[in-house]
Amino acid sequence: MAGSDPKLTAKLVLPNSKEVVLPVTVGTEDEHAIDIRNLRQETGFVTLDNGYMNTGSTASAITYLDGEQGILRYRGYPIEELAERSNFVETSYLLIKGELPTSAEREVFGRMLTRHSLIHEDMHQFFAGYPPTSHPMAVLSAMVTSLSAYYPDCLDRNAPVDLHITRLLSKVRTIAAFSYKKSIGQPLIYPKNSLNYCGNFLHMMFAVPSEEYEVSPVLEKALNQLLILHADHEQNCSTSTVRMVGSSGANVYAAIAAGILALWGPLHGGANQAVIEMLEEIRASGGDFKRFLDDVKNKRDNRRLMGFGHRVYKNYDPRAKILKKMCDEVLAHLGIKDPLLDLAKGMEEIALRDDYFVSKKLYPNVDFYSGIIYRAMGIPTNMFTVMFALGRLPGWIAHWKEMVDDKDTKIGRPRQIYTGQRLRKYVPIEQRP
Ligand code: CMC
Repeated sequence: MAGSDPKLTAKLVLPNSKEVVLPVTVGTEDEHAIDIRNLRQETGFVTLDNGYMNTGSTASAITYLDGEQGILRYRGYPIEELAERSNFVETSYLLIKGELPTSAEREVFGRMLTRHSLIHEDMHQFFAGYPPTSHPMAVLSAMVTSLSAYYPDCLDRNAPVDLHITRLLSKVRTIAAFSYKKSIGQPLIYPKNSLNYCGNFLHMMFAVPSEEYEVSPVLEKALNQLLILHADHEQNCSTSTVRMVGSSGANVYAAIAAGILALWGPLHGGANQAVIEMLEEIRASGGDFKRFLDDVKNKRDNRRLMGFGHRVYKNYDPRAKILKKMCDEVLAHLGIKDPLLDLAKGMEEIALRDDYFVSKKLYPNVDFYSGIIYRAMGIPTNMFTVMFALGRLPGWIAHWKEMVDDKDTKIGRPRQIYTGQRLRKYVPIEQRP
């Protein structure tokens, strides 16, 4: 069982020779944490941990990840099984509610997502206000914040949250597709209730009013798998942001919008776009990826091999393994030969044998192959991070809900070590040198 184990403690000897005994908390997978919640109160010391490399910010029952073994499980279920046998709606239910749904529960959940897919007609005008060059992540985050204006009961912290959760899951998909349509100057395509979650998204993305659009089962399955693989990843940058913003009592739309913005960065979800841009750049300059890898190793212009490396995985990202296989399958099904795939595989092969990458434990992550699949599906590069956001949404929601329901939640407020000037007197402007 998880929790504090009275038989286990850690002793800390401070510079003033004072000793403190700290409780140890053990997780269900035997992870051990030194509980420092009373450290400052008892000793006056704080801990310093840039980038939270060693700091557990919360206990959580949602996702288990073992970076050394390459394990990822949602609510105990291996990611490989979910990607193979589940679909995105069911996996979202699992993450948010904690258990796989019965068929009746799944039917109700799916129906709710279908019913709440429209956005307020007035919101259509917002899309018109953005220049065509807008990055869809800017539009998505702003629109998600705007949803709170249309559902103001979200400001009441005691009001039920289920409907807001349903709205988010359903409407973010509509907003994502609308932002794409707007960017290419095509009419917005309304959701169609006869389609399921992923099919409906593809319909809103690729249908035009002048033609019938038939959802390809290959694309629909690929999209389900891609979204499942992105659905949660415990306390990453964007999820921690959602928890941090939510801990202030800000409404769920605000917290999710903050997560979307954190995801945008190229070291996080923005890496899927950066991978394709990197591969395109290498191809445009003659395809010499060995020279590019040399530049990376020499840290020329702070170059990184995008889609490689992970804070937690030091063996192999299990999502990347599934995606590499999927990439071959989807491209073969669609009869597409993408030179960027050959380039990516060539780079991976070299990097996995190169001492620089091996010694730093740098392996392909979820973003290395996902962009090539999205490209094959017809999704433009600047929409890739939006796709990541759509996938990560149930994870963010599950964490937000877990945080709100947890009686131990406190507003997120780290300490710091001040390194600035000590006390000094104000100098009037005429006396300054
Ligand atoms: N290419 C080249 N060198 C790298 C890379 C890379 N992709 N990633 C890390 N390194 C080097 C880095 O320069 C450093 O070297 P040194 O010890 O000589 O200073 C060492 O490896 C450790 O790197 P770090 O930045 O301290 O490691 P981190 O755990 O803070 O960063 C990371 C993790 C994902 C930000 C980083 O590996 C990276 O920038 N990768 C490329 C961007 C990327 O693909 N991001 C997507 C992550 S997966 C999706 C998600 O969950 O967001």
